[in-house]
Amino acid sequence: MLTEVVLPGLVEPEGLRLRTRPLPETGPGQALVEVEASGVSFAEQQMRRGKYYDQPPFPFVPGYDLVGRVTATGAGVDPALRGRRFAVLTKTGGWATHTLVDAGDLVAVPEEVGAAEAETVVVNGITAWQMLHRMAKVRSGATILVLGANGGVGSTLVQLARHAGIRVIGTASPRHHGAVRTLGAIPLDYRDPDLPARVRELAPGGVDAVFDHVGGEGIVDSFRLLARGGTLVSYGTAATRDVPGSSRAPVLKLFARLLLWNLLPNGRRAHFYNLWAGRRRLAGYQARVRADLGQVLELLASGDFSAQVAARIPLTEAPKAMRLAESGTVTGKVVLVTGATGVTEEAAGHRAAEGGPRLVDGSAGRTGGEGPR
Ligand SMILES: NC(=O)c1ccc[n+]([C@@H]2O[C@H](COP(=O)([O-])OP(=O)(O)OC[C@H]3O[C@@H](n4cnc5c(N)ncnc54)[C@H](OP(=O)(O)O)[C@@H]3O)[C@@H](O)[C@H]2O)c1
Repeated sequence: MLTEVVLPGLVEPEGLRLRTRPLPETGPGQALVEVEASGVSFAEQQMRRGKYYDQPPFPFVPGYDLVGRVTATGAGVDPALRGRRFAVLTKTGGWATHTLVDAGDLVAVPEEVGAAEAETVVVNGITAWQMLHRMAKVRSGATILVLGANGGVGSTLVQLARHAGIRVIGTASPRHHGAVRTLGAIPLDYRDPDLPARVRELAPGGVDAVFDHVGGEGIVDSFRLLARGGTLVSYGTAATRDVPGSSRAPVLKLFARLLLWNLLPNGRRAHFYNLWAGRRRLAGYQARVRADLGQVLELLASGDFSAQVAARIPLTEAPKAMRLAESGTVTGKVVLVTGATGVTEEAAGHRAAEGGPRLVDGSAGRTGGEGPR
């Protein structure tokens, strides 16, 4: 049997449900992964509000990424993968004790790296690495501005940039400034109305790149802060998470703005980064993810990168993990853990009896979260 967390509809975190069902058959090209750790990402905050750009239909199993060991392989998949630890980008389905994945999406995790530590760099590591090195192509000696430098992607970006010899200015709430400084960035308060002036004091000629997941009207300041030849990498619309209405409208408005800036002769570039772009050409996409995440995992294994685990919370306490991730009090990644921390059926039932997520009937059909993507 497997246990999984179900997001049934537009609910508060306490509305998450636990479900058990038989382990699925492993089909051709697939691997069954026993999940050790899965992350709580900003995407789930948007998904539970129905505000994710590519919103999955309810009910589904959330979980944007995971780390675990392969326990079964389907036809055409090397059986030698069984027992080894891998990271997988899933978009949904990671908040479970087991999940079926496309074997091509498996990225090997060095044995010396713990599951929760590796988990912190799956979606965050791929996103940060590709934005920094593939999209903005920032060179050593440059100065960049990272919004939300204490967050999952932000704290990863700061470390990767520092490792590449890049100077980083990072925005965060004052309570996180100590942590941001420890990561190697110069912290600034993102609520300071004079933030652009503060950035200009530190980089009078402008910055070489800005990484902006906030969107909204503030994106104009991000673009204006660029030096000539600089690059804006926009990758989210966090500013509109709680604004009622279409999940797509703020993104489309943002795209139009970026397009316009690129058409004007201003000597600067503006891009939107999308982690899933290029997945239609699957083999090439998977090879890039393996290469880029592989580099971040190597940095983690060598000690050149320090995993920012904000908290390890048992899978059966997913509501608590979600509340914490949304609290604005954490640095790094909130990680849901299974295995030794105990997500047996008994533990799930016990926690449900204590007022944790309710166990529901395991005979329900497949959800959007369990298959390979
Ligand atoms: N486009 C893509 O392919 C892609 C891929 C991955 C992630 N993302 C996006 O990346 C963003 C970060 O994801 P995550 O999982 O790292 O989230 P996270 O761990 O929850 O971090 C969010 C960060 O944003 C900060 N923040 C919130 N409101 C802000 C504002 N108005 N101005 C500046 N900073 C603000 C938070 O600061 P406090 O802690 O002070 O609240 C926190 O540092 C999300 O918007 C997500 O959608 C996009």
